Amino acid sequence: MGILVAPSLLAADFGNLERDCKMVNASEADWFHIDVMDGVFVPNISFGMPVLKSIASHADKPLDVHLMIVQPERYIDTFAALGSNILTVHYEASTHLHRTLQSIKDKGMKSGVALNPHTPVDLLEPIINDIDVVCLMSVNPGFGGQSFIENTYSKVEKLKEMILRKNSSAMIQVDGGVTNKNAKKLVEAGADVLVAGSYVFKSPNPDNTIKDLKNLLK
Ligand code: DX5
Ligand code: ZN
Repeated sequence: MGILVAPSLLAADFGNLERDCKMVNASEADWFHIDVMDGVFVPNISFGMPVLKSIASHADKPLDVHLMIVQPERYIDTFAALGSNILTVHYEASTHLHRTLQSIKDKGMKSGVALNPHTPVDLLEPIINDIDVVCLMSVNPGFGGQSFIENTYSKVEKLKEMILRKNSSAMIQVDGGVTNKNAKKLVEAGADVLVAGSYVFKSPNPDNTIKDLKNLLK
């Protein structure tokens, strides 16, 4: 399987969400990345269920929902019912992570765990075989358009080594500040899925930008 690209709709034009969803449908992108922020876990509020419902009605590729909210376990059933395919919770926001991941899988979704830039990947060792996608934050979560944190490369390498050693099938996703400047190096370090928001949607031709990114990673 090639490297997956997941455009983050946080950088889309919310006045033209249907248009932007259709652009992603028709593009070479693999997943829709959807950032839900509660203003508590992160210092920003993005959007919630009604907007996700609208996205789901237009999107025909997997919905990769990244929850930047406290106590994410409260909303697992809701996000499943809205059509989420991958549901990612933050390690830092989950007191009973193992139980939360089982609940996500019981609802038929893939389980994701996101780590803030300061959270060491070693913490995942006891639970790596229960995770489908590890999302390494390469910016501090809360906002699109920030600069990529260089330390991410070594986190990807470390995590890759752990995944191989533990015979885990977890995919490594990198989220934040991804561009054509760091994409190749991230894949060489072991990344499987790249999230790109501003780089895609703020470019003159988002469809072409996705295509170029995919080509770069072939
Ligand atoms: C940040 C979000 C990211 C963000 C990425 O909190 O999790 O998914 O949308 O945006 P860019 O690619 O602009 O950094
Ligand atoms: Zn995200």
